[in-house]
Amino acid sequence: MAQTSLLCRSYLLFVVFLIVGVLAQYEWQSKDNFDAIKFKFDKVSGDNCPIQHVSDLYLPEDTISHKPNIKEININPVFPNRTALLHLHNMALSRSFFWSYILQSRFIRPAINDTYDPGMMYYFLSTVADVSANPYINASAIYFAPNCSYSSSYRGFFNKTFPRFAPRTFRQDDFNDPIHLQKISTMNTFEITDLGATPEEAFSKDYTSDLYKINEWYKTWLPDEVGVRHDTKTTYQVQIRYANNTNETFTFHGPPGADEEPGPVKWTRPYFDCGRSNKWLVAAVTPIADIYPRHTQFRHIEYPKYTGIAVLEMDFERIDINQCPKGEGNNKPNRFAGTARCKEETTECEPLQGWGFRRGGYQCRCKPGFRIPSNIRRPFLGEIIERASAEQYYNGFDCLKIGWVQKQPIQWERAPYRIREKHLDRRPEYRNYTTGPSSLHTERMNVDQAIKFIHGVNENTCKNFHPQDLILHGDISFGAKEQFENEAKMAVRLANFISAFLQVSDPNEVYSGRRVADKPLTEDQMIGETLALVLGNTRVSDPNEVYSGRRVADKPLTEDQMIGETLALVLGNTRVWAAGTYWERNKFTNRTYFAPFAYKQQLNTRKFKVEDLARLNKTGEIYTEQTWFQSLKQRWSTNFDDLQKYYLKIRIRHNETGDHLQKYERYPTFYRAGNLKHGFWSQPRFDCNGYVKKWLITYAAPFFGWDSLKVKLEFKGVVAVSMDMLQLDVNQCADKFYAPNAFKDTHKCDEKTSYCVPILGRGFETGGYKCECLQGFEYPFEDLITYYDGQLVEAEFQNIVEDKETRYDMFKCRLAGASAIRAASTLIAGLLILMASLVYRFR
Ligand SMILES: *[C@@H]1O[C@H](CO)[C@@H](O)[C@H](O)[C@H]1NC(C)=O
Ligand SMILES: *[C@@H]1O[C@H](CO)[C@@H](O)[C@H](O)[C@H]1NC(C)=O
Ligand SMILES: *[C@@H]1O[C@H](CO)[C@@H](O)[C@H](O)[C@H]1NC(C)=O
Ligand SMILES: *[C@@H]1O[C@H](CO)[C@@H](O)[C@H](O)[C@H]1NC(C)=O
Ligand SMILES: *[C@@H]1O[C@H](CO)[C@@H](O)[C@H](O)[C@H]1NC(C)=O
Ligand SMILES: *[C@@H]1O[C@H](CO)[C@@H](O)[C@H](O)[C@H]1NC(C)=O
Ligand SMILES: *[C@@H]1O[C@H](CO)[C@@H](O)[C@H](O)[C@H]1NC(C)=O
Ligand SMILES: *[C@@H]1O[C@H](CO)[C@@H](O)[C@H](O)[C@H]1NC(C)=O
Ligand SMILES: *[C@@H]1O[C@H](CO)[C@@H](O)[C@H](O)[C@H]1NC(C)=O
Ligand SMILES: *[C@@H]1O[C@H](CO)[C@@H](O)[C@H](O)[C@H]1NC(C)=O
Ligand SMILES: *[C@@H]1O[C@H](CO)[C@@H](O)[C@H](O)[C@H]1NC(C)=O
Repeated sequence: MAQTSLLCRSYLLFVVFLIVGVLAQYEWQSKDNFDAIKFKFDKVSGDNCPIQHVSDLYLPEDTISHKPNIKEININPVFPNRTALLHLHNMALSRSFFWSYILQSRFIRPAINDTYDPGMMYYFLSTVADVSANPYINASAIYFAPNCSYSSSYRGFFNKTFPRFAPRTFRQDDFNDPIHLQKISTMNTFEITDLGATPEEAFSKDYTSDLYKINEWYKTWLPDEVGVRHDTKTTYQVQIRYANNTNETFTFHGPPGADEEPGPVKWTRPYFDCGRSNKWLVAAVTPIADIYPRHTQFRHIEYPKYTGIAVLEMDFERIDINQCPKGEGNNKPNRFAGTARCKEETTECEPLQGWGFRRGGYQCRCKPGFRIPSNIRRPFLGEIIERASAEQYYNGFDCLKIGWVQKQPIQWERAPYRIREKHLDRRPEYRNYTTGPSSLHTERMNVDQAIKFIHGVNENTCKNFHPQDLILHGDISFGAKEQFENEAKMAVRLANFISAFLQVSDPNEVYSGRRVADKPLTEDQMIGETLALVLGNTRVSDPNEVYSGRRVADKPLTEDQMIGETLALVLGNTRVWAAGTYWERNKFTNRTYFAPFAYKQQLNTRKFKVEDLARLNKTGEIYTEQTWFQSLKQRWSTNFDDLQKYYLKIRIRHNETGDHLQKYERYPTFYRAGNLKHGFWSQPRFDCNGYVKKWLITYAAPFFGWDSLKVKLEFKGVVAVSMDMLQLDVNQCADKFYAPNAFKDTHKCDEKTSYCVPILGRGFETGGYKCECLQGFEYPFEDLITYYDGQLVEAEFQNIVEDKETRYDMFKCRLAGASAIRAASTLIAGLLILMASLVYRFR
């Protein structure tokens, strides 16, 4: 009896401890803005969203801070925590230019009583490629204003418009999808619908109506009431030189320029994508311009107008938040500012990248004058602080005060002979160096000379160098794969689109009114099919379906479409200087060679040039002989197993007026295309006879279509983009022995006491790093920072080389605690006691 009561009591005690413990763990954490937003975020789900109030379907504007701004892109570096958003921005911009161009390109063609506009499948697959080529983009759509979309997909549809047209693709989580038996998410299944296919009276499904609730994107640019003014839209000029050597200058209306107010891209608040993908999304929205109304025969009553918008969306959850207090680098509206839990007396907060909408995406660094305790290796991680109990929190996460800080000396001296020799011995490449192109080929590279040579080549001087010297080794452009990833992805997107179009759309397909759907599967068919195919097939075919007789398949890709797509790569991304779509011999309809190449010669311009490189068709000149073309062609000549397979579930409109959705004839269908890894990065080179006279790095992505028998894939060509190498950041820090970086380990930090950390955004110059103190060492000077800046270090090292006044030898960290007063006083006390005892003894 006594025993059980003891047991009971100890259980009780344990439970009490548990409760107190659990409560106490978070008692030090008060509720803040993050919790408020998280509450709103969790409140809405796919099931309850239709009955939520509109205001609950949106999050406040300032939950996304540091939105990329096109006015600053070429001025300030874009941080890694915003590269995904920047890409969303650029893709939206590029789409806007493409559709504006292609809708107006009818003015460079003879007038016919038909439309030159792309068919519906072009729209669908274009939105698919936006998402399929970019893992970070979750949805892409084009919404047309009512009665503004012309189409070539219906017979006798000349001068008629769809009441509404809105092709949209979003990536589906295909974890539970019967087409994948392995039950894992491939992230390669896409749901494609035409949101314009709604019955006339269903207002809550009409994306132009207020009852749609989540259509804030629609209201950003549409409806566009311009009256009859002709000058409301920005114009862009393209000079086209065709293969037959005729020139044409085409001016078209597009989105606002980067220098205008508002700029071309508007952002929406985060909203809940209710009834569609049922997630919180953020959209970048750009307008599509056209000249409207069409075919009036009187140009003066046709005026430029925004007839549609391109909307590209990404998960809100994946966008990094910045919890640090307001300050430099975090001064714009930011709902989450100041929710970090750094101990402000001794540490300061620094955001970390890649945490998304989660607590703890920061670290707490020591303030100047403080250092981390010697048993800790790195700054305190926010994630760990957030999980700490009250006891841990109040007793830890503090930096220690540095007892004694030195002042920076005001006067410097020349380094003594011995010191100078010591430093030069360590870096013999500064004793006796070569200049010019050969500086790149020495055993130990002298960075300053190498970079001086690279900067010394420009359009005037390039003729003085041997062509061999104007092709650099690939290790000079180390980091291009990461730093130009967004640009490369734009090429992958176009390659993906062409692959999809060549594989999914068949121009000879006839949708006749008398055609009936497949009969249900017979037993014999079942036996022959693999399980996977059958599962796919039973969902494809609805035996009661009857196809409408007026729909026609898309025509093959046209030259204008390819020119427009290529141009859009250059217009949509300021870092792309040139782009080309190079078709393999005899693969483009009715052409032997075809290679639209778009480029610009100036930054911030509205004049662009396009040239069909098929004009240069002599041996030695033709584009199919370029290394990147050849190597991709060889790689993809027979084996396509490595390619990604993308599944499409397309639902199209029932008839011209829309009315309701129906499955596309092949449902689901698929195509195969490459991803970022399947492309080719070229060596940096300066083409003295080229169109863009800069050090260019080219990325090329292959595209594929069916062969003439439609049984096997084949290589059809390449999409290439070229970027300016001088926009790369040089990384001088040490790295693994196999990292292909020509500038590796050329930093000038003191290796015994400090280590090198790259700094972003310093460009193709030396000094893009900082020297941080190693564990157990501290920064000795009174200063606003706690590291040595690479630019300063490099400059002072140069003074050593030139034997001038320098303080390079001072750029070291001090052994931590060695000079703290406490350590010194114990030492003195010890000494005193020792002396006292000695005196006492020998007295
Ligand atoms: C287009 O149709 C109109 C009226 O039907 C006719 O007058 C005109 O000649 C046609 N134009 C062409 C290029 O066929
Ligand atoms: C949406 O995009 C993110 C990357 O930004 C990705 O991790 C996530 O899986 C995507 N969601 C879906 C359903 O595709
Ligand atoms: C679009 O055109 C249809 C048919 O001509 C018309 O009934 C409808 O009112 C138009 N819609 C708008 C928004 O102009
Ligand atoms: C040259 O080619 C373009 C595009 O293919 C065509 O529009 C133009 O009419 C051609 N010019 C001549 C003189 O053949
Ligand atoms: C087209 O323009 C280029 C320069 O852009 C020029 O060299 C060429 O002679 C022009 N061709 C014709 C036929 O005018
Ligand atoms: C095309 O439609 C516009 C506006 O509806 C009309 O003004 C024009 O006359 C039509 N053109 C033809 C050739 O039917
Ligand atoms: C992104 O990183 C930069 C540099 O570290 C910082 O200034 C900025 O506040 C960060 N932004 C966000 C939203 O984390
Ligand atoms: C510098 O290098 C050249 C050739 O490599 C060599 O002949 C010369 O002796 C070197 N001078 C010194 C001071 O090392
Ligand atoms: C290709 O050429 C043939 C014959 O000249 C023509 O009938 C066909 O319309 C052309 N196809 C395209 C897409 O221009
Ligand atoms: C090269 O181009 C010229 C002019 O466009 C054409 O006459 C010739 O047939 C082409 N040569 C080849 C090999 O395609
Ligand atoms: C489209 O389909 C709906 C429903 O079947 C029908 O009422 C409507 O008349 C059709 N529109 C056309 C243009 O055929």
